[in-house]
Amino acid sequence: MDDDELIAAARDALAAAHVPYSEYRVGAALRTADGTVYTGCNIENANYSNSLHAEEVAMAEAVKNGHREFDRIAVSSGVRDGVTPCGMCRQTLAEFAADDLVVACDEGDDAVTEYTLGELLPNTISEGTLDDAAATAADAADGDPEAN
Ligand code: THU
Ligand code: ZN
Repeated sequence: MDDDELIAAARDALAAAHVPYSEYRVGAALRTADGTVYTGCNIENANYSNSLHAEEVAMAEAVKNGHREFDRIAVSSGVRDGVTPCGMCRQTLAEFAADDLVVACDEGDDAVTEYTLGELLPNTISEGTLDDAAATAADAADGDPEAN
């Protein structure tokens, strides 16, 4: 699937959105390193914070099917406003995707704005972040006064 088809897939995916509260449909299409594409839409909940975002639904589907490497995600909203992944979704993508993941945002007609994940989220929380914390905690346990 080429880049234009990926945007089209994101647009198609938003048709399945469940958005009785915001009425703001979002679709995402995530292309893996081997070219497989997984789509997602937002699925809202009466308990608002339980709502699932299109990008996380697509990512969950891909990971569930054994994919860990990604090269592009397309995102579209029903109003073609160039929606970008929210902060939470940026971090969700960063769990597996590298800084150079291309995030293609649908501006309507044939206009697409491309970002890299690194541009959208320059400082991710990563496995390394937690390793650093664990090391600091271990130093504190050893009595290092610099550690906290
Ligand atoms: N939404 C997404 O699906 N992805 C994003 O990253 C931005 C926000 C959804 C969540 C909610 O259902 C609606 O858009 C309005 O915030
Ligand atoms: Zn989100």
